[in-house]
Amino acid sequence: MHSLLVPVIAIDGPSASGKGTVAQRVATALGFHYLDSGALYRLAALAAGRAGAAWDDENAVANVAQTLDVRFVGEHILLNDIDVSTAIRTEAIGVGASKVAAFAQVRAALLERQRAFAQVPGLVADGRDMGSVVFPQAALKVFLTASAHVRAERRYKQLIARGETADLEAITADLEARDARDRARTVAPLMQLPDAHLLETSDLGVEEAVAQVLTWWQAANHR
Ligand code: DC
Repeated sequence: MHSLLVPVIAIDGPSASGKGTVAQRVATALGFHYLDSGALYRLAALAAGRAGAAWDDENAVANVAQTLDVRFVGEHILLNDIDVSTAIRTEAIGVGASKVAAFAQVRAALLERQRAFAQVPGLVADGRDMGSVVFPQAALKVFLTASAHVRAERRYKQLIARGETADLEAITADLEARDARDRARTVAPLMQLPDAHLLETSDLGVEEAVAQVLTWWQAANHR
C-alpha cells in the first residue's frame, strides 16, 4: 500500500505535554505503528556532538542527520548499534535537539526517514510538525498541550523517577525557552493547525486523553 494511503494520526504539541505517552497508548490500542519524531532530532543532536559537529553548524549537523545509522528495536533506540535510549533523554540533548531542529537542512535530512514509518495498518506520529509538514494528509490531527506549570511538573517527576537530580524552576525556564524556539523558528514551527483538535491535558489523566483521541478517531472514520 502506498504510504499516502496508510491512515495516520498526527499528535503535535509542546515539550513535556505528555503527547509521547498518549500517542504510544493510542498506537497500542489500535495496533498501529508509533513514531517519536523528537527522538530523531535528539539522535541528530547526540550524533553531531559525538562526531565533533557544533550544534550551530547547519551543514555539519545536516550531514550527520542524513547518514544516521539508527534502528528502533521495540522500546530501544540503537545508534551505530549502541543503545542510546537513555542518553537521548537528558535535558541537555533536548536543548540541542531544539537547536538543530531549527535548521531547514536538518529537517529535510530527516523527512523521508519519518515518512517511512507510515506502514499498514496505520501510524500514530508525535512531534511538532506531524500534521503540518510530515503527514499533512493525516486522517486525524491533534494538538496536545498543557499549561507550562503542569508540563514542568510532569518533566520534573519523570527526571526524579529516573534517579536524576532536578530543579523545578530551572526546568520551567528551560521548557519556556524551548517552546519559544520551537514556535518562533521559520521552518515548520510548532503551531495549532486549524484542522487539529485541541486536547488540553492540564486537568486530564492519560487514560482520559487516550479515550478522547480514540473517540475522535472513530468519528473521523465514520464521517
Ligand atoms: O519531543 P521532544 O522533546 O523529544 O523533541 C525534542 C526537540 O526536537 C524539540 O524541542 C523540537 C524538536 N522537534 C521538532 O522540531 N520537530 C518534531 N517533529 C519533533 C521534535
